[in-house]
Amino acid sequence: MSPRRRFNCARSASVALVASASLVNAGPCDLYAAGNTPCIAAHSTTRALYSGYSGSLYQVKRTSDGATTNISPLSAGGVANATAQDTFCEGTTCLITIIYDQSGKGNDLTQAPPGGFDGPEANGYDNLASAIGAPVTLGGHKAYGVFISPRTGYRIDKGHGTATGDEPEGMYAVLDGTHYNDGCCFDYGNAETSNTDTGNGHMEAIYFGNSTFWGSGAGDGPWLMADLENGLFSGLSPKNNANDPSISARFFTAIVKGEPNHWSLRGADATSGSLSTYYDGARPDAKGYNPMSKEGSIILGIGGDNSISAQGTFYEGVMTSGYPSDETENVVQANIVAAKYAVTSLTSGRKFTAGDSVSLQATTSGYTDRYIAHTGSTINTQVVSSSSPATLKRQASWAVRTGLANDGCFSFESIDTPGSFIRHHNFALLLNANDNTKQFSEDATFCPMTGLSGDGSSVRAWGYPTRFLRHYENKLYIASDGGVQTFDATTSFTDDVSWKVTNGFSSA
Ligand SMILES: *[C@@H]1O[C@H](CO)[C@@H](O)[C@H](O)[C@H]1NC(C)=O
Ligand SMILES: *[C@@H]1O[C@H](CO)[C@@H](O)[C@H](O)[C@H]1NC(C)=O
Repeated sequence: MSPRRRFNCARSASVALVASASLVNAGPCDLYAAGNTPCIAAHSTTRALYSGYSGSLYQVKRTSDGATTNISPLSAGGVANATAQDTFCEGTTCLITIIYDQSGKGNDLTQAPPGGFDGPEANGYDNLASAIGAPVTLGGHKAYGVFISPRTGYRIDKGHGTATGDEPEGMYAVLDGTHYNDGCCFDYGNAETSNTDTGNGHMEAIYFGNSTFWGSGAGDGPWLMADLENGLFSGLSPKNNANDPSISARFFTAIVKGEPNHWSLRGADATSGSLSTYYDGARPDAKGYNPMSKEGSIILGIGGDNSISAQGTFYEGVMTSGYPSDETENVVQANIVAAKYAVTSLTSGRKFTAGDSVSLQATTSGYTDRYIAHTGSTINTQVVSSSSPATLKRQASWAVRTGLANDGCFSFESIDTPGSFIRHHNFALLLNANDNTKQFSEDATFCPMTGLSGDGSSVRAWGYPTRFLRHYENKLYIASDGGVQTFDATTSFTDDVSWKVTNGFSSA
């Protein structure tokens, strides 16, 4: 026997597989397959997860005419063709309607149906994500992640090839470690087929956020935990695992895997370094978790019963058949690092500069004498001109500030009421004093972009990228084109959300 072929069986498959020439350009799912734990679901809007995959990554639907298109990689195994999306969606809004399963098992994720916890749309279905909420680059190529606002969710009820009962499985997801909340539950993984809570052990999914209702880790969060149903677990103790760290990485690799009476949590910065194990041990010592009763649905952005209060961003993720070895996951992490995720601009069009004073003029025909102003705490449009009283001019002038929740976007502070900012609340815009909460910061952060009508700038809500500053009956809302609210009406939408930005009527 030649020395080359003398493989020691105890050596991990992954050592062999990284040495194998055919896996030099491998995708994550090629690596899982080489470890004998193949992907049975592979979801990503940013890149192909198999070296040979050149099929559709996701589908977008544009509001202007209801047409859909599929977005594919630039080349087999490559990054998504973001230009195809940008071209298709120019001058209108687009939603992500399908996240295709690259594994060939048919586990495509679509708009999540109503569940034990009802969705917000008229028919009870969850919202779909904006196609532009999470722009990034991979190796310098632009791509878009899935920005999940509260009430947004994707699902396939009857998964194909997913683990059921106590069967072993693994999963990873690359997430935005800075986009989270404490609502239930920003999940990716295995859940109930009925969209209802069917009891302990009926789920096994990645959770990311700072909910402390069930469990928590070290520090203030956010944490990676496992949603095993009726509990987010950071380790053996249902309450706390001090080895489960707070996450601050902008791009975060999250791993959950489980097999009979054994499960693990692992994580890493998705742009550098290797995985750490936060927990590796027995199932929770409570009825229902050993053995597990996994059902095999797949969810993204919601809880198993369709709980819709959470937010987060998903870039890519897979689920496997079988319990992946740590070694296989380590080479998958190396592959993710090599994909070179990086941030990119959240804005486009007219340049906004912190410190400037601006006024925003309506461009809708018949309303062009009106500017965004406020009357007390109500944000409205008012007729303003250079000969208006100084008081009104100040009410219609806004100091541009670095975005309170994201420094890639902006906040608008009142010139006549310093310390108060434009923020949205129940989709209406208000002028409120900054209370320095995470909620306020997020509700007061807006991302300007080239005007949807082709004129001026449109300004989307950072936390709800399907929604733009819109005047409707002379009041201001964050509106989505063709959404369920009256102020979401399609008529004159693109004009109503396009603003001519001028120097402020008043600068102090
Ligand atoms: C990307 O999409 C654009 C617009 O649809 C298209 O013209 C171009 O050929 C695509 N690029 C590749 C490499 O397929
Ligand atoms: C989650 O984090 C935010 C921001 O730090 C904080 O305001 C909120 O209270 C935290 N939630 C919990 C449940 O600790």
